[in-house]
Amino acid sequence: MIKINGKTIHLIGKDISYIMYISENKDLINFHFGEKLEDIDYSLIKDEYETVHGFASNVRSLDVYQQEYPCYGRSDLREGAIGIENKFGNAILELYVKSYEVFKGVAPLVGMPSLYSNNNGETLKIVLEDKIIGVEVELYYTVFDEYNVIARNAVIVNKSKSSITLNSAYSLSIDLPPDDYEIIHYSGTWARERYLQRTPLKSGLMADIENLRGTSGHQMNPFVIIAKKDTDEFNGDAYGFSLIYSSNHATKVKVDSYGMLRVRQGINPDTFRWQLDKNESFYTPQSVMAYSHNGFNHLSQQYHDVYRNNLIRKDWAFRTRPIALNSWEGSSFNINETKILSMARCGKELGIELFVIDDGWFGKRDDETSSLGDWYANKEKLPSGIEGISKKIKDIGLMFGLWIEPEMISRNSNLFKEHPDWVVRTDEREPIEVRHQLILDLTKDEVCEFIVKTLKDLISKAGIQYIKWDMNRQMTDMPSLAYNHKYTLGLYKILKEITTEFPDVLFEGCCAGGGRFDAGLLAYMPQIWTSDNSDAIARLNIQYSTSMCYPLSTISNHVTVSPNRVNGRITPLNTRANVAYGGIFGYEFDVTLLTENEKNELKEQIKLYKKMQKTVLEGDFYRLISPYETNFAAWQVVSCDKTVSYVLICKILSLVHSNEKRLKLSGLDKDGNYKIGQTNKVYSGNFLMKYGIKPNFPLSDFSSELICIEKI
Ligand code: DGJ
Repeated sequence: MIKINGKTIHLIGKDISYIMYISENKDLINFHFGEKLEDIDYSLIKDEYETVHGFASNVRSLDVYQQEYPCYGRSDLREGAIGIENKFGNAILELYVKSYEVFKGVAPLVGMPSLYSNNNGETLKIVLEDKIIGVEVELYYTVFDEYNVIARNAVIVNKSKSSITLNSAYSLSIDLPPDDYEIIHYSGTWARERYLQRTPLKSGLMADIENLRGTSGHQMNPFVIIAKKDTDEFNGDAYGFSLIYSSNHATKVKVDSYGMLRVRQGINPDTFRWQLDKNESFYTPQSVMAYSHNGFNHLSQQYHDVYRNNLIRKDWAFRTRPIALNSWEGSSFNINETKILSMARCGKELGIELFVIDDGWFGKRDDETSSLGDWYANKEKLPSGIEGISKKIKDIGLMFGLWIEPEMISRNSNLFKEHPDWVVRTDEREPIEVRHQLILDLTKDEVCEFIVKTLKDLISKAGIQYIKWDMNRQMTDMPSLAYNHKYTLGLYKILKEITTEFPDVLFEGCCAGGGRFDAGLLAYMPQIWTSDNSDAIARLNIQYSTSMCYPLSTISNHVTVSPNRVNGRITPLNTRANVAYGGIFGYEFDVTLLTENEKNELKEQIKLYKKMQKTVLEGDFYRLISPYETNFAAWQVVSCDKTVSYVLICKILSLVHSNEKRLKLSGLDKDGNYKIGQTNKVYSGNFLMKYGIKPNFPLSDFSSELICIEKI
């Protein structure tokens, strides 16, 4: 709900207030973002900073004001939300409120994914202007009665008669009042994505959470939490910032000399420069802010709810996902029809529902060095082609899925012979190959049309029911500034067209593991391959922190062989499954090589996951013990009606006398009675949450339990 009270605009979410006011000078000032406040005209409250601090402007100083979209150059000399070069050749922009309006629903972005309205949401559009240079900035804020989130974006409009240059244009800027803040961000690399880092923020130091590698990246996720000191999973203040964007991003955080914290999030300005001609508009991606007064779990639940209900495609957000058997870790490039069909038949007996042929099925692809772009079956490996193998797999009783890397091209391919000019490159240098591959130029219409046609033909002719969309390299050799952004607009256009044409096909995003795990991609692909590191113990950390923003329904996990291919760790089969249950579950090894005992174990795992999947897709998720801080990890998912819950508890190393604490559960009905797993033990919800349970670990490293709790 949005209320206007005098000069105050009050956005009211489920338990939050976001309050701004228009000053006497028509500056747009933030008053509060946090717990819900009463609805009064806050512009009447005299700010105690006004006369005390600020640089000594004789006119006015915004130096200590919490501005909504600050600009550098006159009354505020901190880094601004926008950087321009105007027709006078300087960087000065001075924005005053021109008008505002409030409307039901959302304001969709042009060319980029954003939250949609599910018959909910209310949006404020507020126009700021600089009459001297003829620039307007439209700020959009969407608030929902159901969640504690505010979605923001800015549109820069050139109303003048000459061009201006945008050197930066953030989606949001917010100034938070002085406090003891810490920043939590998710950094890593291939096979170690989204490792949680927590750092105190000190005056003068800039935290720069960003990526310049073309996709949103393995290195830094476009999601950041600002928390007050001592905030934990259940207590304390936390502000989230999640960008719905899949390319070079930046979240810049700085505490100024007065202790004020400025957060800016948006397209990374380092690779950005945009000429905006007269009457043109530039859309920034949407950034979703959330606030929790009750720690990180509550913050994550805001993102899980809004992304499941207002971002992920309606036809897939809560839809049952098939249990996949993927060929990659079992067969690598060495696939052939006989092998595939024997794996598929064996998988069917175990309860598998979808067979996915990964890399190696096309062109002359026997290793990484060739064929990307030649998206037709290698007849030596698959004599009946993709249509034939698809039919044979469906005859076995499984769904059929296929891996593809549509944005890429191998130099050693027919596509490259035909279209060497389709490659991303500069004129003056040979483009760099990564994994022996080059990138197709998605800023060209004919390239986008080729990709769309290729996919449409493949999907419709072979009746493909699942696509794993991979992207295995960083972007180099960009021919111009802001090229990554233009490329990403091309990608979104392709994804929109294909997912609209095939609403029933399940798309899974992938980027050399989890290098493009972001809210932008989730608007098209309801699940994303989390990491090429499928070792259960490494995954405890990766999945734990991925869940801080992204719902379990998006986190794709496969049980793979032990010792693990990436880190060599040997783990029990039940722990590999117990960890993989925390998301979209599947397998990735040659199931024909399993012993009878292992096959029986898999059958039980599949039965269990099929029982628990609805809760995984729809339920409320709680992180209970952090593997980043202890020798344990525990998490729990609770059905919306609180009748069933699944708890994972894992002891990483086997330590004697390790002073194991009882595990206190969450989210249950305190007055209800719950039966624990296969035992006859029944406890009240209150007991389970206040006193807790004692897990039974076998005497070995990497042991775990998956406990099912049902209300009776
Ligand atoms: C990288 C992906 O993360 C893997 O799962 C696999 O699909 C390979 N690419 C195939 O080349």
